[in-house]
Amino acid sequence: MQMTDLIAKKRDGGALSTEEIEFIIRGYTEGSIPDYQMSALCMAILFRGMDDRETLDLTLAMMHSGETLDLSPIRGVKADKHSTGGVGDKTSLILCPMVAACGVKIAKMSGRGLGHTGGTIDKLESFKGFVTGISEQTFFDNVNRIGIAIAGQTADLDPADKKLYALRDVTGTVPSIPLIVSSIMSKKLASGADVIVLDVKCGSGAFMKTPEQAEELARGLTRVGRLAGRKVAAVITDMDEPLGNAVGNAIEVKEAISVLRGETKGELLELCLTLGSCILTEAGLAAGDAEAREKLQAVIDDGSALRKLYELVEGQFGEAAAVYDTSLLPDAKVKLEALSEEAGFVAHIQAEQVGLVSMHLGGGRVTKDSEIDLSVGVFLHKKVGDRVERGESLGTIHAASEEKAREAAQLLRRCYSFSPDPVEKPPFIKGIVR
Ligand code: URA
Repeated sequence: MQMTDLIAKKRDGGALSTEEIEFIIRGYTEGSIPDYQMSALCMAILFRGMDDRETLDLTLAMMHSGETLDLSPIRGVKADKHSTGGVGDKTSLILCPMVAACGVKIAKMSGRGLGHTGGTIDKLESFKGFVTGISEQTFFDNVNRIGIAIAGQTADLDPADKKLYALRDVTGTVPSIPLIVSSIMSKKLASGADVIVLDVKCGSGAFMKTPEQAEELARGLTRVGRLAGRKVAAVITDMDEPLGNAVGNAIEVKEAISVLRGETKGELLELCLTLGSCILTEAGLAAGDAEAREKLQAVIDDGSALRKLYELVEGQFGEAAAVYDTSLLPDAKVKLEALSEEAGFVAHIQAEQVGLVSMHLGGGRVTKDSEIDLSVGVFLHKKVGDRVERGESLGTIHAASEEKAREAAQLLRRCYSFSPDPVEKPPFIKGIVR
């Protein structure tokens, strides 16, 4: 088999066979197929697409390029959640303890943040001493004992995706549905969960800019997951503005705790109830959405979801007392209000740019190896649809220095656009694909 022939076949609109796809992924992972040929193939896939069979074959070939996790030592239904990436997305910190408190097992591999998006692993490290690189034995023991463990991705999981995603990132080939589907689902399938729920972001701060594109991706992801024998649901949600109010690391942990305490409601809680009810129903722990939502609300009301977060942190050697006393979490030296220079109704907040403000403050990574400051970030006081007066605060900047805070306030003001007329907020949940 020659890679040049396979590139030409896809370029001309042909379908690659299972053997051809396995040959490509094996060769690329081992290094016998060079980056320039793989880039050409990715571009051909971007323009020509792939059918369901090809996408499934690509997903499975990538999944088998490295280790796969065998979760069979864990008793009960194992669930995993994935978000296609957003700003202010602390959903896992809320959802995972909620569903674990309802009896679903969460054995989750999470990533670190890069660029404008944050990562669950970084956020969890806001708890002093929290270990993300726990041994496989501790991981399994914790899930069996307390129902939940969240660890950093092991180096050998899906090496094909690590190489391929880095290549796509620099060759303009990220926004291809079959390539995104295979990238996400190969990692999720390799992680071994029975139930997978996906939060597909849609809007200016997401890969998928329109609801139609997001729905196409959601359908692709759920189809491949089902063909691979897993239970999968996808929820399409708005990412035209940051999720919730906090953007950063420790500051997002505090917001997550406030939702688990029942103090913060709104879109963040709604998202966790929606994703959570997909998990409970797919796991067979609720007959329908109404029963699932009741169970999920109950674990917030009786404090058991918050307690589950405590157990998660304690089980991974972190300072769990901070769950009940958030003053123990990192706190920025400087707080500055970003005052609005305009009056009106908030029409739009550029989510990606708000993520970059947090990065400018030191809360996000410029490169994979950058150190981050867990204490900095932004807390938005105004969201789309809110009325703002001149001189009112748009958000509080949490910074390491006065100078950084002033620069960030200026950048945050630029993220907002206003309308003189009332603005109707678009629906937050745009669809569910089951
Ligand atoms: N997230 C991934 O993991 N892969 C993609 O291709 C896009 C988003």
